[in-house]
Amino acid sequence: MRDRRVIGLVVAAGAGERAGGGVPKQYRRVAGRAVIARACDGLAAHPAIDAVHVVIGAGQEALLAEAFGGNPPAWTIGGATRRDSVRAGLAAIDGTIVLIHDAARPFLPAAVVDRLLAALDDADGAVPALPVADTLARGDAALGDTVARAGLNRIQTPQAFPLPLIRAAHAAWPEGEEATDDAQVARAAGHGVALVAGDAALDKLTTADDIARAEARLAARLVSR
Ligand code: CTP
Ligand code: MG
Repeated sequence: MRDRRVIGLVVAAGAGERAGGGVPKQYRRVAGRAVIARACDGLAAHPAIDAVHVVIGAGQEALLAEAFGGNPPAWTIGGATRRDSVRAGLAAIDGTIVLIHDAARPFLPAAVVDRLLAALDDADGAVPALPVADTLARGDAALGDTVARAGLNRIQTPQAFPLPLIRAAHAAWPEGEEATDDAQVARAAGHGVALVAGDAALDKLTTADDIARAEARLAARLVSR
C-alpha cells in the first residue's frame, strides 16, 4: 500500500498489581533490559513499522526514561483502565495502521508481525491467537463443570487495525465498560477480525513467576535477545 504508515502503540500505564514487587512489571529488567524496552524493540526492529509510541501512567516518566537509558520513544499519559490508555494513545498518534501491543509482552517474533500485516489485506483487524491446550473448568475450591475447549483461543497482542477504524470502534464502545483487548472492541463495532498464528514467546507477564520464567527462557536461549 502506498502512503502506508504503520505505528506500534505500546500500552504501559498499568500498575502491575498481580506481579507485585514495587516497580510495575513493565519497568522491571529481564536479563538486563526492561520489559517495556524489549516490547518496543520487537516493534521498532520490524522493517514494516515506521514508529513506536508508548502510553505510560502519570508519574512513570522517570521509570520510562530509565528503562530506555535516557532515550525513550514518544509517549502519552494513559488512564485508569487499559481501554482508557489505548484511547489516549490512539488520539496521540498519526498513521494509517496501528499495532496495539501490551508492554508486558517482552518477546515479539517478527513473523507474527508479518502475519498480522498480511491478514489486514483481507480483514478489518488481525490478532495473534493460540489454541487452548489445557482442560478448562469452572470452580473455585471445588471442581465445577468442564468447559469445552474446542474452538477456544488465547488471544495475544500486537493487534493490528487501520487507525481510523479502531478509533471509531473505541468511540462506539459503551462508556465505562472495560475491554481486555481491542479486537473485541473492533468486533463489537461490526468489523471482521482475522486470527493469525500466535506464539508462546508472546505470552504476557502477569505474575512474579512469569517474570522469573522470562529470565529463564532468555538464559536457555528459548527466545532471542
Ligand atoms: N495497561 C495500561 N493502562 C491501564 C492498565 C493496563 O496501559 N490502566 C497496560 C499494562 O501496562 C499492560 C497491558 O495493559 O502492558 C495489559 O494489562 P495487564 O497485564 O492487566 O497489566 P496491569 O494492569 O499493569 O497488571 P494488573 O492487572 O496485575 O494490575
Ligand atoms: Mg490489568
